Amino acid sequence: MRCWLFFNRDVAPGVPEAPEILRFIEAAEALDIELLVLKPSEFDLVVDSGHAWSAIYQGRELKKPDLIIPRCGSETTYFTLAVMRHFEHQGVAIANSPAAIESVADKLHTLQVLAGAKLPIPKTILGKFPIDVDLVERELGFPVVVKKLRGTRGAGVVLCENRSQFDDLANLLDGATSNTDFLFQQYIKASHGRDVRLLVIDWRVMAAMERRAIDGGFKSNISLGGSGKPFTPPKAMADLAVSVARQLNLDIAGIDILFDQDGYKICEANSAPGFQGLERACGINVPELIFHAMGKKFGIPVRHSERWEQAIDKAARALLKPMKAPKLEPAKEHAPAPAPRRRKPA
Ligand SMILES: Nc1ncnc2c1ncn2[C@@H]1O[C@H](COP(=O)(O)OP(=O)(O)O)[C@@H](O)[C@H]1O
Ligand SMILES: [Mg+2]
Repeated sequence: MRCWLFFNRDVAPGVPEAPEILRFIEAAEALDIELLVLKPSEFDLVVDSGHAWSAIYQGRELKKPDLIIPRCGSETTYFTLAVMRHFEHQGVAIANSPAAIESVADKLHTLQVLAGAKLPIPKTILGKFPIDVDLVERELGFPVVVKKLRGTRGAGVVLCENRSQFDDLANLLDGATSNTDFLFQQYIKASHGRDVRLLVIDWRVMAAMERRAIDGGFKSNISLGGSGKPFTPPKAMADLAVSVARQLNLDIAGIDILFDQDGYKICEANSAPGFQGLERACGINVPELIFHAMGKKFGIPVRHSERWEQAIDKAARALLKPMKAPKLEPAKEHAPAPAPRRRKPA
């Protein structure tokens, strides 16, 4: 398999998503996948009906890959989407698709799609300035959750305990000059400091973990210090997570589910979910699961690692032999060097 991973930042210490990129590089190496980590911002897009294939990266022509895995998350700008669409239109398999990535980058759009499908979500209002505090109190009550429309890793989410706190925040937001959009959302009390992250790949639940905030806070994000332990989701929860991935057309999804008094509420869907906590909690190899599942979905052969081949018994090996992929030829043109293959930092 020849694969491109899209990531807009340097794979460097201090970049929160870098460890996941390194895990993809490790897994690709083990599976003999030719992987390039590329910054969408460094492509030049030339759209021309006379071209069968066009990919200009840092001034060089690149050969067509079999698969693109975007990992740009909340940094998916218009330019990044345009780059993804450029290759989608040229027939490259892309997981997730730019349309799916665009709809989940906007938390309200996610909820609009899910509400339309009658799936359970916390009631949510799009912030409008000046903020109508009476409307928020009437529709959502207090406490109320306030979220940035495009926040991630728990950074843009706060809980307002009562009307006077919300009044203060509303005054602050009304006076702010930034163009940031906010959501006001029903607080799901039964889930305070606790939720479930389900990894759904190709519409199958691959793993789940229960996340808990460590400090009595209400946000359970692992990136904020929350703890994760393996969780066996009840069928209703697993089915709900798969429905969310289907409705949002996500091939790879991190679905967060809140516990409600008598069921569940969908918190959010992530198109490039962080998975360090999930790998630690559940002892799985997420990039390997993704490569295998996407290889299967798009009919792209993935070479198996030696480790994997050694692990299966002789009979199984004999059975699998005819299905083995031929060795892939490395690209002939001068491609940029793949990102350095480094070990995950301890
Ligand atoms: N409506 C809510 N009720 C209760 N807890 C919530 C609610 N929304 C979010 N949370 C908590 O806050 C965390 C972060 O919110 P989320 O919307 O997932 O933002 P982010 O994209 O930054 O992770 C969630 O994992 C959950 O623990
Ligand atoms: Mg979240």
